[in-house]
Amino acid sequence: MADVARPTEADALARDAADPLWSFRDRFLLPVGPDGSPAVYLAGQSLGLQPRTARAALDVELDRWSRLGVDAWFTPERPWFTYTERLREPMARIVGARPSEIAILNGLTVNIHLLLASFFRPDGRRRRILADGPLFPSDRHAITSHLAQRGLDPDRDLVVVEPHVGTSVLRTDDLEVAIRDRAPELALVFLSGVNFATGQSHEIARLTDAGHAAGAMVGWDFAHAAGNVELAVHDWNVDFAAWCTYKYLNGGPGSSAAIFVHDRHGQDPSTPRLGGWWGIDPRRRFDMTPAFGPAAGAAGWEASTPSPLALAPLAASLAIFDEVGMPALRARSVSLTGYLARLLAELPVEVITPADPAARGSQLSLRFDDAEAVLARLATRGVVADFRAPDLLRIAPVPLYNTYHEAWRFASILRDLPGSGRGA
Ligand SMILES: Cc1ncc(COP(=O)(O)O)c(C=O)c1O
Repeated sequence: MADVARPTEADALARDAADPLWSFRDRFLLPVGPDGSPAVYLAGQSLGLQPRTARAALDVELDRWSRLGVDAWFTPERPWFTYTERLREPMARIVGARPSEIAILNGLTVNIHLLLASFFRPDGRRRRILADGPLFPSDRHAITSHLAQRGLDPDRDLVVVEPHVGTSVLRTDDLEVAIRDRAPELALVFLSGVNFATGQSHEIARLTDAGHAAGAMVGWDFAHAAGNVELAVHDWNVDFAAWCTYKYLNGGPGSSAAIFVHDRHGQDPSTPRLGGWWGIDPRRRFDMTPAFGPAAGAAGWEASTPSPLALAPLAASLAIFDEVGMPALRARSVSLTGYLARLLAELPVEVITPADPAARGSQLSLRFDDAEAVLARLATRGVVADFRAPDLLRIAPVPLYNTYHEAWRFASILRDLPGSGRGA
């Protein structure tokens, strides 16, 4: 569709009418705004919406629990025992991995701990972890606690590469140079696929190569990347990655998280793993022997019993992803986010997310002097977004359920918002 300089409401509606993926919106339950009509929900980068099929999927498991009790783990049909195994394939398609490289388990931060235990192997001078800034606090806490636990100095041995003063996002060249310059000191490069604050999507293949050339392990936090941008983690040679499933993956609040461990590590019995009985090969899990013989692949990191109740909504959501496929979703995301970016370019608003569609996913981060107050005013007009201190609003037109008309409405509401402090 041809771009127009100042899209009108009619133009937005026409785009929705012509959109082959528009009907997927109907698969989700839309929160309501203060007037009882559907909110303009632009917070899918924080909590994805509930698939209509989630409740039924959950009911199935509640029903099985009520009827079968413990036997639900082993019934021939849909046994809980293999629930996480069944989700590996759809999750692998989302991130471009082999199913054997995926495990579904725990929460994101806990999984970062598990993976740092395996892949952060400081050795003499090579003891530092390099990350991109702004660094999400939970990632920082996980990293610094590992440094401290191994007798290292969290202040010196965590190197966070921040954007240059006066700029908001990192240049890939600068990250590459930082990795190269510190090569002899780096044990691990741990980066965000899409940065939580800026919405910048990093060049994963290139930076993974840079980390490997420096002699370091390379891991990624895909919290804001999984289900948002196209990934090919196996081919990109990433060592490991972790992500939550409650954002773009719509698994529900606190839904089970996921990890990727490249088969070159996961199939190697000498890779150190923290043990637990769920990480044992399922055929031997009930042997109850003292030895920990981990399952091959990422499954070897699954230490604890998974919750079918936490997995059911995720399974419902992954089925939708399989119907759409990441390439189509990403194409719609580029178009929808680009459309919103063009509308915002007409307003006195600073968008810090890169303008290049290849360097961002669905999220646009807007800087305001009084961002929290702007968020509150937007809420009164039925817009759901989120605030990240000190001065950012994060806005995500999610391609599975947001529309061009919502992008247009958001821009119109923002333009007409009373009060000062917006714009830069
Ligand atoms: C980049 C990033 N890392 C870590 C976390 C923490 O995730 P969790 O609370 O699920 O461990 C989040 C949560 O939003 C995040 O965005």
